[in-house]
This record gives sequence, structure tokens and C-alpha cells, in this order.
Amino acid sequence: MLRIRKAIIPAAGFGTRFLPITKTVPKEMLPVGDKPVIQYVVEEAVEAGLNEILVVISRGKEAIPDYFARNPELERRLEATGKGELAEGLRRLSEMARIHYVYQNEMKGLGDAVLQGRAFAGDEPFGVLLGDTFIGPGPSPVPSTMTRLVAAFEERETSVVAVEPVSSERVGRYGVAGGEAVAPGVFCLREMVEKPAADEAPVIDPGSGAGPGHYAFAARYVFTPGLFPELEKTTPGRNGEIQLTDAMKALMEREGFHAVVLSGVRHDIGNPDGLRRALQ
Ligand code: UTP
Repeated sequence: MLRIRKAIIPAAGFGTRFLPITKTVPKEMLPVGDKPVIQYVVEEAVEAGLNEILVVISRGKEAIPDYFARNPELERRLEATGKGELAEGLRRLSEMARIHYVYQNEMKGLGDAVLQGRAFAGDEPFGVLLGDTFIGPGPSPVPSTMTRLVAAFEERETSVVAVEPVSSERVGRYGVAGGEAVAPGVFCLREMVEKPAADEAPVIDPGSGAGPGHYAFAARYVFTPGLFPELEKTTPGRNGEIQLTDAMKALMEREGFHAVVLSGVRHDIGNPDGLRRALQ
């Protein structure tokens, strides 16, 4: 069975929706409670067993590697002043995973960001978790979304994407999936459309009696390494960006693709409204 141990976290975007803060603070470093958002993302990867992590950054986002790096001088100072517990907390943070970094030199979209992880992933399957989105617990305790994606990948042996229901008024903002339910909360995908018009957006009947609805991609993925040749072939679309959805669609047609309905509540903190909701 194919086992997954690697994750790519794209965190290189300009964060224009959060200017001027993002002139100096990467949006992934904005705090929710006592932690920056990217720490929740790394913790979700680690909980799913993905301990080898590549964070894709860009110039000016060095606060991210600084945050996860050891600081022996500070640790020694804390130990010497009776704050050993704080020092231990800092060590735990740095040792939580093996984190590597790569620069995306030009922000040519999410597809291009993932492509920067080609050498890191090699011929292994890997997870992708968007660095500006974390998933808070829902009303009932269930395994994290990434854990369920990994389980679905191991069972179905295709790439898997997290999806969540979206109203027809909002489909135009997301990648939208079509297909059919094969188990509770698990869909086999036949269609993928990036930012469709409401009357062209595919629907899925989840089989729960709720009736067919729209399902949008929700910031978490597991891919076979077959994604990379598709990304290489993808021609830049809107704004010169390499769309991840285009490569996913080609991969679906070649290898098949499944989707798992997200558990919990997705918080996209890449815009002020999303962060405000996450803080409530
Ligand atoms: P977004 O589209 O939300 O990020 O990408 P952005 O480009 O920073 O947004 P705005 O429109 O300028 O405000 C989702 C994730 O993909 C990463 C982002 O850092 C974010 O975590 N990303 C996006 C990259 O790593 N590289 C890119 O070229 C684009």
C-alpha cells in the first residue's frame, strides 16, 4: 500500500486582500488564539502522519522559517531565569516536524507553488494544505480532514480532495466538483470546473436524502506524483497563473479522483472577514 509521509504547504502568495498588514507580516503568521494560522496547518499535517513538510514561501516571508527554527540562545536564557517550561515549549514547536523551505520566485499561482515541491515529493504521494486556511473542530469529534483524506487515499488509491457544500450564489469563487457518492461523505469525481457560472456548476447527490448540491474544493488535498507532469503541461490561465484545478482535472481523467466532505469548519484567514469569523 502507498503510504504518505510528506506534505506541501503553499504560503508564498502576496496576500493582497490583507494589505497593508501583509507588507511586513505574512498572512499565514496572523494569530488566532495563541498561535499563528500556519501552526494549526502544520499540526493538522502532523496529526495525519505527514511529518516531512515543505513550506513554499516567497521573499519577505522569512518570518515563517524564523518561527519554526530553534533559538538556542533564547532557550538558554529562559532556562537560566527559571522559565524552563517556556524553553521546552519552544523546543517542542521546532521539533514537531521536519520542515523544509523553498522559494517560489514569481507568484504564478497555486499550481506553480505546488510545482516547487516536485523534487521534495519525488515519486511519493503527498498532501497539500493551504497555509492560510485552518479547519476548526465541528460540533462532533471526528478525525481531522487531512487524516480522513489520507485514509481515503489509502483505500481508493487515487488522489483525493476535501470538498464542502457551497451555495449556487458562491460557486463562482471556487473550484467545483461533480460526481457521485460511493460511501457516506466520499465521492468519485467525474467533473471539475474552476469558478463556474451558477447555471454551469456541477452538482453531487451525497445520498443522504438532502438532495443534490454544489461542492467546492476546500484547501486540503492528497495527490499522487502523477500531478507534477500535469502541472508542467498546464498553460497559464487568468492573470498568468497556473491553475491547480486544470492539472487536477487532467489527473482525474488519467488516474481517477475522489473527494471527501470536510469535517469541521474551514477558516480562510486570507481576507479580513475570514479572520474576523475565525476569531469569534
Ligand atoms: P490565495 O489566492 O488565497 O493567496 O492562495 P494570495 O495569492 O496570497 O491571495 P491574494 O488574492 O493576494 O490576497 C491560497 C494559498 O496559496 C498560496 C497562498 O500563500 C495561500 O496560502 N499561494 C498562492 C502561493 O503559495 N503562491 C501563489 O502564487 C499563489
